[in-house]
Amino acid sequence: MRTILLFSMGVVFLAACGPASRSGGEQATAAAAADLTGHPGYKLYQMYCIACHGGTQEPGQRLAPPAFMVQRHYKNAFPEDEFKQRIIAWINNPDKEKSIMPGAVRNFNLMPPLQLSQADRQQIADYFWLATFAEPAWAAAHRQQKQQRRKQMLDSLPNP
Ligand code: HEC
Repeated sequence: MRTILLFSMGVVFLAACGPASRSGGEQATAAAAADLTGHPGYKLYQMYCIACHGGTQEPGQRLAPPAFMVQRHYKNAFPEDEFKQRIIAWINNPDKEKSIMPGAVRNFNLMPPLQLSQADRQQIADYFWLATFAEPAWAAAHRQQKQQRRKQMLDSLPNP
């Protein structure tokens, strides 16, 4: 346990000094993600989900909504138990009727079903709940633009 802790602290330290970290947000993400690299669901997610949900492609070239968006929708909609049950059921049997992201189904078509064991799906669902998924650069830029516009709009309102 102690070794794992020290190891992940090392990873965080390296991540914090690496060229990949430009902002505090990215450092925080690296720190949170580093703690979960030993989680069985982490490997499974890399194997079975990240190719489509990694969010690294630019909008227009993406295959699916990035994981952090899926996680946000599901966390807003469901408590932990149902969050996990929904993910477990979804992986092997995506169902338009059960989708809570109709826009994503329209844009990308329904996710193709995967054939994973109950145990693997459970691990992935646990990981999906715990993970701090990196917000892709394009999404962060988009969010900042929106915040900027909102601020400009508020600033332009007359003072009461
Ligand atoms: C071949 C590409 C692909 C892979 C691999 C993939 N997905 Fe998806 N996924 C999609 C697409 C496309 C959507 C958006 C359309 C939809 O919701 O069905 C999606 C949507 C989802 C949703 C949102 C469902 C909704 O509409 O409410 C969840 C949850 C999800 N995926 C979980 C996973 C998990 C977990 C894995 C890995 C085990 C995974 N996906 C692997 C393509 C993929």
